[in-house]
Amino acid sequence: MTPLERYDSLVDDPEAFRRACERPLPSVVRVNTIKATTDRVADALDTEGVDYEPTDWHPGVFRLPNDSPGRNWPHAHGWIHGQEEVSNLPALVLDPQPGDRVWDACAAPGSKTTQLAALMDDSGLLVGNDNNLGRLSALRHNAERLGVTNLVVTNQDARNFSLKPLGERATDDGGIDAFDRVLVDAPCSCEGTIRKNPDAFDTWSLDHVHSVAGVQKGILRRAIQATRPGGTVVYSTCTFAPEENEAVLDHVLDAEDCRLVDFDAPLDGVPGVTEWQDETYDPSVEKALRIYPHHNDTGGFFCAKLEVAE
Ligand SMILES: C[S@@+](CC[C@H](N)C(=O)[O-])C[C@H]1O[C@@H](n2cnc3c(N)ncnc32)[C@H](O)[C@@H]1O
Repeated sequence: MTPLERYDSLVDDPEAFRRACERPLPSVVRVNTIKATTDRVADALDTEGVDYEPTDWHPGVFRLPNDSPGRNWPHAHGWIHGQEEVSNLPALVLDPQPGDRVWDACAAPGSKTTQLAALMDDSGLLVGNDNNLGRLSALRHNAERLGVTNLVVTNQDARNFSLKPLGERATDDGGIDAFDRVLVDAPCSCEGTIRKNPDAFDTWSLDHVHSVAGVQKGILRRAIQATRPGGTVVYSTCTFAPEENEAVLDHVLDAEDCRLVDFDAPLDGVPGVTEWQDETYDPSVEKALRIYPHHNDTGGFFCAKLEVAE
């Protein structure tokens, strides 16, 4: 049994799901509005002779049917960034505003960090954190190429994240100075990346699913603690396993003072699941979105929006 067959009972159309997982993923770029406009990028791609198709759900996300994202000069100049279509979703759901304080807890190599910076008009404070130093150099390189200046990079385990290295003090209750919004694009078993990375299942095991779920719970709890009352946390993964998705939300809803909220998604998907094998989850996990590859011809994804109690 492959990991995908595990999800037959959850997926609306298992045949279409499996066929989509076998197709290669289209090349997709995001327009970097810190340096360019959609029209300017379209003109530059025309001049270069690079074919592109704007997606029907976002004017600044283009499919490149015959090119890979890094092979043209608009990329070298930082006007565009190669980013899987569905991976654009979490930053849009977090919806950071110019001037906000935002923490990207698992940030490397920085696709979503740089998207967050663009949504913030490169203003306010954006903290991009990752526990993997090697991956952080890719984040720094991307941020530089894309012209991001509102970013501070930190190298910590997000489960114990502290702002002390940045000169900020702990609050009286042992928390940290609060962020307005936090993105947790969590490490996961990456089942949803199978179209991009056909080796994704070579290292798959149920033990890994369970161990990474423990890390995800710790990171998401810290994210809630680090967010101001009424602030927003978005949790995303690129995997299908409910152990890493709804079960993590269920755990955090119990452990921290927060709730799941509805959001408008520009991509098709289905609600989070409330039952899996012998487990049942808080009914509000239905507010999360599961995106399967056959829904929008993308990779697989999971996204949920939480609000911290006032
Ligand atoms: C899904 S990737 C993030 C992708 C990134 N958000 C992007 O869009 O480019 C998950 C990241 O979490 C990092 N990570 C794993 N465990 C972590 C931890 N305990 N604290 C912080 N980062 C962690 C990994 O190094 C990896 O870079």
